Amino acid sequence: MSHCDFYRSNRENGSASIRVLDLGCGTGASTLAAAHLLNHLSPSLHAVDRSTTALTALRQVFDSCRSLWPAATLEIHASDARADGLTGAFDLILACFTLNELFSDAQEPHAERWLHQQLDRLAPQGALVILEPAGTITCERLQRFRNRIAGKPGFSIAAPCLHQKPCPMLGANCGFCHDVRSWRVPDSVNLINRRLFRSVHDLKHGLLIVQRATPPRETQASLFRMVGPINRDKARVATYGCCGDGTLRKIEQMTRGLSRPQIDALASHERGDCLRLVNPRLLGDGRTWRVEALEPAYHPAAH
Ligand SMILES: C[S@@+](CC[C@H](N)C(=O)[O-])C[C@H]1O[C@@H](n2cnc3c(N)ncnc32)[C@H](O)[C@@H]1O
Repeated sequence: MSHCDFYRSNRENGSASIRVLDLGCGTGASTLAAAHLLNHLSPSLHAVDRSTTALTALRQVFDSCRSLWPAATLEIHASDARADGLTGAFDLILACFTLNELFSDAQEPHAERWLHQQLDRLAPQGALVILEPAGTITCERLQRFRNRIAGKPGFSIAAPCLHQKPCPMLGANCGFCHDVRSWRVPDSVNLINRRLFRSVHDLKHGLLIVQRATPPRETQASLFRMVGPINRDKARVATYGCCGDGTLRKIEQMTRGLSRPQIDALASHERGDCLRLVNPRLLGDGRTWRVEALEPAYHPAAH
């Protein structure tokens, strides 16, 4: 049963609408995204931040754009997200770009205790979503949490990993785990960025989604998640993959016989994409899969 099926059956049984908690919501990027995407589930949104200015802005946008989320309700809470005092279970808890503000690097045990408190107030099948700015400190901290939470009974790592085994990137001297998404930069962002000179063409973030659910039994050994950029030379396209069996592998496809558009399509995959290995063969170095093709794959976290 997927998240959505679960929530739907809850509602068909006459239970309350789904409850969403956004911790450190700011002006509401994630609260409003949840309102819009989950409107069909009549979400009851609870947005927590210590900034009353940010909460007021969120309230104004929520009220003035009601037609985008007619079935959603919003309560704002001006409080410390480390101890918000809200009671009851939540189907979805969001902590987007907040954890690093709540707890400094030196406070890792406090941050972990707080994460366990959030997990403990998830409803059955509910999910805790953590996004962090991409960086060694923030992302490796998430990777360590992920490893320790992976053993917590009754919980599973829903994303970004395709497996519940220890993170093969930690300590492997191969960079930190994160996703990169290119997007069409809106004119409004370009305008603001005229003076800020930020790099806005790629969105980069660390991600962890933990679900209150038993982990799936099967490992999807033929799937991998891209954890490095695509490199191309005259003969091949290559990247690094965190594979469904929990191993970190170099993955390469020879490009002889492929057309330019086919090579461009291969090279357009981004860090974080989930792909399927077609007819993989392990090379003599014992760590490189050479494949006949790479196919886009279903990612459980997207459903
Ligand atoms: C980088 S912003 C992220 C805002 C929003 N989640 C987003 O993704 O756009 C971090 C937010 O955390 C809030 N924050 C920091 N420390 C907090 C605390 N102890 N309690 C509540 N909110 C806090 C800040 O006020 C800020 O709005």
